[in-house]
Amino acid sequence: MDRIVIRGGRPLSGEIAIRGAKNAALPLMAAGLLTDDRLVLGNVPKLADIETMATLLAQHGIAVDRVGNEGRVLSLGGAITNTEAPYDIVRKMRASILVLGPLLARCREARVSLPGGCAIGARPVDLHLKGLEQMGAEISLEGGYVNATAPQGLQGADIVFPFVSVGATENLLMAASLAQGRTTRANAAREPEICDLAKCLIAMGAKITGIGSGRLVIEGVPTLHGADHEIVPDRIETGTYACAAAIAGGTLLLRGGRLEHMAALASTLSEAGVEVTEAPGGLRVARLNGLHGTDVQTEPYPGFPTDMQAQFMSLMCVAEGAAMIPETIFENRFMHASELNRMGARINVHGSSAIVRGDASLQGAPVMATDLRASVSLVIAGLAARGETVVNRVYHLDRGYEAVERQLSACGADIERVSD
Ligand code: UD1
Repeated sequence: MDRIVIRGGRPLSGEIAIRGAKNAALPLMAAGLLTDDRLVLGNVPKLADIETMATLLAQHGIAVDRVGNEGRVLSLGGAITNTEAPYDIVRKMRASILVLGPLLARCREARVSLPGGCAIGARPVDLHLKGLEQMGAEISLEGGYVNATAPQGLQGADIVFPFVSVGATENLLMAASLAQGRTTRANAAREPEICDLAKCLIAMGAKITGIGSGRLVIEGVPTLHGADHEIVPDRIETGTYACAAAIAGGTLLLRGGRLEHMAALASTLSEAGVEVTEAPGGLRVARLNGLHGTDVQTEPYPGFPTDMQAQFMSLMCVAEGAAMIPETIFENRFMHASELNRMGARINVHGSSAIVRGDASLQGAPVMATDLRASVSLVIAGLAARGETVVNRVYHLDRGYEAVERQLSACGADIERVSD
């Protein structure tokens, strides 16, 4: 299995091209189930999760071909031949549940394995199922699978959820696009990836208003058609490299990064002593003088993203003064804290909050993480650590970061991938 080896202490300088957002690409690929026509997606990142979704779609009958622009364009097309999403694929990636809404809307039936828990928390899918039930689906759970049917087809419904869910908003947006009548969705998630999905669905013929507002209105249409869509740049990849520049020192140009999609992160970074400014073609990130301990709480968009909590925590380890970081989205998303402590950080976790004492002098160590963002937070810490940091279980990183070691070494970091 591969490992990433980092020898810290070098400042970063140069530019990194930000790829299309993984969390936009996955639902957009699931949207390929909504039509037999070709859906062409541009700016697709080369990631393990994209391959998993392509494998899942292929066994539903949808061919996914990488074409053009160094394989960054995906062409999806074909008729649905199988409405079952098997455990062997779904267990690898929770976002597989996103095929449920489209399959049910198109075929009036679907059998999808429950994704189960994951390292960062229980992560149930009850909101996805309740929403579909409100739209007329009959749902039962059997042998670890969701069995869903809608013999009369899905009907529009007024859906209000008790809290915001990104995945449930996406699943229901796709299902409602082909339902009969109007669906309203209150307390909808507002992430840029959801706006990107809505934009693509509209290009496919869907009727959606209220995009980005928290209240979506969808007028169902009988069929959708093919479209060409360019995926929005990844705000989490942008934020991750911003934290890398901040901890290592130096200046990075993040080509394609968009400030409007990361306002909460940029203002938190600015409070911490890191400047993020718009520059021709992207964003420029520079650490000013020292880093200052800065409190921040994770929240649904437009708040500070939970997917940036681990990377920001690494930064806070070396900042002057303490930082309090409450995690409000996932119940168990601090596994990186104990690994960072092994590198010399001083983090205490109390329930859903972490207190980072700061002023740590990090030292390299062998570390491993149990999820994607935690893994990259250890890479970031390694950039500032004395000596050698070895990050194990690199498959987590490969799910969501394209060649992180190549990107950082091209900007001056001493980092390499080592295969056993
Ligand atoms: C998506 C992102 C993930 C990000 C998360 C929160 C993708 C592929 N993944 O995950 O990177 O960390 O948003 O920004 O886009 N919940 C329920 N019942 C449900 C659904 C969710 O209780 O039916 C809970 C979850 O356990 C969690 C919270 O709601 O505590 C938010 O989860 P959700 O927004 O649904 O996250 P995902 O869509 O899984």
